[in-house]
Amino acid sequence: MGGQLTMAKVVITGKIPQVAVERLRAEHDVTSWDADVVIERAELLSRVKGADAVLSLLTEKVDGELLEAAGPQLKVVSNVAVGYNNIDVKACTERGIKVTNTPGVLTEATADIAMALILAATRRLAEGERVIRSQTPWQWGMFYMLGMGIQGRQLGIVGMGQIGIATAKRARAFGMTIAYTKRSPLDAATNAELEATHMDLDQLLATSDVVSLHCPYSPETHHLINAERLSKMRKNAYLVNTARGPVVDEAALVDALKGGVIAGAGLDVFEHEPKVHEGLLGLDNAVLIPHLGSATVETRTAMANLAATNALAFLAGQTPPNPVN
Ligand code: DGY
Repeated sequence: MGGQLTMAKVVITGKIPQVAVERLRAEHDVTSWDADVVIERAELLSRVKGADAVLSLLTEKVDGELLEAAGPQLKVVSNVAVGYNNIDVKACTERGIKVTNTPGVLTEATADIAMALILAATRRLAEGERVIRSQTPWQWGMFYMLGMGIQGRQLGIVGMGQIGIATAKRARAFGMTIAYTKRSPLDAATNAELEATHMDLDQLLATSDVVSLHCPYSPETHHLINAERLSKMRKNAYLVNTARGPVVDEAALVDALKGGVIAGAGLDVFEHEPKVHEGLLGLDNAVLIPHLGSATVETRTAMANLAATNALAFLAGQTPPNPVN
């Protein structure tokens, strides 16, 4: 727990819903970066100087350099995201800095996007939209633009946390069966509800019709889905990623999509965001959307509020609800 701090200096590294800013402002001295573009690194390093608390967005790297620039009084880094791969947690822990994140509040919104990508990829929605918008001549036909039906197909979920479970529930409603990887199997009640099968990754890749990634990004999951793993998937299978881009070797995915190693992909996240591998851009069997998993008004407001709650609690000397370290 942190000692109680009145009128702490709080730096918010990007634009977040005003309601959360006001809650922080009611108790502390708050500065925020309110432009619609991501803050330049030099500006960020200068702004965090003297901060007791930093509310960070996933676009900002909180590493040794930033902690150094902030100074020894920095006590808490509250990430406005559930994923915290933008933060060097080890460096924070070594300096006695608390790190928090925002689990739970974006579960449903992200699972919605995963399900939307499963449908969009298997039913060729983006490709179909491009036909209409480009005014390409088309006609209804028995064999025109056929996709894959998902009823009775197996969805393989890599990383069966809250978002994985929420995605599995949606997929069940669409008639899919569920396989999953997880260190230890699901509790009996969730397992009974989902009738899910616990597998190792290789078995899941070899047997699933759609593979959906929901694991956190860490050195262990860097390029978890590489050329070798893609080659273990079925030729008619689809890959969906709403987790973090670098979990997938994007160059290997381009080759697999081009070479017919797998049938298609639905991607919400990219290895070098906001850049997208050029090879993906021309591929009709890849559905590409710009990291929209949590992008609803309700969810972004809840994320900002939870990040504020975490910071306020820690600054008040309490245990924050969502500690990472
Ligand atoms: C998260 O919170 O990690 C999401 O990626 C934000 O959209």
